[in-house]
Amino acid sequence: MTQPLEKSSFRHVMGHFASGVTIMTTTASGRMHGMTVSAFASQSLDPLLILVSVERSTEMHKLVMASRAFAINILGEHGEGTARFFADNARLKGPEFVEGAYHLGVSGAPLLNEASAYLEAIVDSTLEAGDHSIVVGRVIALEVRRDAEPLIYYRSGYRRLG
Ligand SMILES: Cc1cc2nc3c(=O)[nH]c(=O)nc-3n(C[C@H](O)[C@H](O)[C@H](O)COP(=O)(O)O)c2cc1C
Repeated sequence: MTQPLEKSSFRHVMGHFASGVTIMTTTASGRMHGMTVSAFASQSLDPLLILVSVERSTEMHKLVMASRAFAINILGEHGEGTARFFADNARLKGPEFVEGAYHLGVSGAPLLNEASAYLEAIVDSTLEAGDHSIVVGRVIALEVRRDAEPLIYYRSGYRRLG
C-alpha cells in the first residue's frame, strides 16, 4: 500500500536505505567546525568529484560557503559517539575538536585521527535544492588511514556489519 506524501513517511522510507556515516569538517575564518553527514556520495572519477547534501539552516552551510573547502572523515564501526557528538548542537558551546585527536589537512579542515579514511575537497559548484544545498567538491587529497569495518546508519539507528 502506498503511503501519504508526508515528511514522516518520507523519513520512514528513506530510513530503509542504509548509509555510511561521515563527519564533514571545514575551517572558516579560523573557526573549525564539524557536522555528521550521511548524504555523501562519490560523483565523478574524471575529474574526481564528491558531493554532500547540506541543510541550508546549518552552521556548516554558512561556514563551507565561506571557506569553499571541506573534508569528509569516514567513520569506522567504533565511531558512534563521534557521530552523535557532531550531530548535537550542544557541541557548539565548547571547542569541537580535542587537541591530539585531529590534525589539519591541506584543505585547512580538521581531519579526525579516528577516521578510517579521508577525502579533502575544494568546492566546485553548489546547487540549492529544497531546504538543502548539494555541495560538489573537487578532491585535492585522499587517504585510507586504517582498514576498519564501517559504521552504518539504518532506520534511525547506528549499526555495524554482521
Ligand atoms: C546519522 C546522521 C546523518 C546526518 N546527515 C546529514 C546530512 O547529510 N546533511 C545535513 O545537512 N545534516 C545531516 N545530519 C544532521 C546534522 O548533523 C545536524 O543537524 C547538525 O547538528 C547540524 O550542525 P550545524 O548546524 O552545527 O552545522 C545528520 C545527522 C545524523 C545523526
